[in-house]
Amino acid sequence: MQEPKKLLVSAINSGTVIDHIQAGMATKLLQVLNLGTHKKIVTLGLNLPSKNMGLKDLIKIEDKELTEQEANKIAIFSPQASINIINNYEVTKKFNVTLPETVQSLIICPNPKCITNNENMDSDFKVQHVNNQIKLQCKYCEKIFLQSDINDYRA
Ligand code: CTP
Ligand code: ZN
Repeated sequence: MQEPKKLLVSAINSGTVIDHIQAGMATKLLQVLNLGTHKKIVTLGLNLPSKNMGLKDLIKIEDKELTEQEANKIAIFSPQASINIINNYEVTKKFNVTLPETVQSLIICPNPKCITNNENMDSDFKVQHVNNQIKLQCKYCEKIFLQSDINDYRA
């Protein structure tokens, strides 16, 4: 007999559910979205079973409606993530994230000699999706980094 479907992470009243996050990426997204300072409930599911993905991560954020722009920053770390906006326990909006062509201010350039790390200025990266890999090229030092090389955010 099949077990009845039950939610591993409780439903929320209103806010945002970031679903289908590549397993292992939720902790980066918490940083990218600066959720450490969110004063409402944030629940997290790591390595949840998923029909299509094998394993997935999931983040539920009470009382925050992610903008599409914020969502698109998520795409750099998890391009298959989907966003659900919840109001009064109902899903009122659902969209997939899309990879932006450039990303400003979010990422700190991993090159310590880069001018953006030595002057008071914002970073600016060109985003490329090649051979299933996401690469980021700094507009200033022109170095190319893999998404996985990025460990610091300005969020
Ligand atoms: N969700 C929630 N709280 C609610 C309603 C939905 O946390 N009040 C979550 C669900 O647990 C799910 C996501 O929001 O992770 C999307 O909900 P729904 O569209 O109902 O689920 P699915 O049909 O499984 O979504 P999809 O087709 O995108 O996989
Ligand atoms: Zn740089």
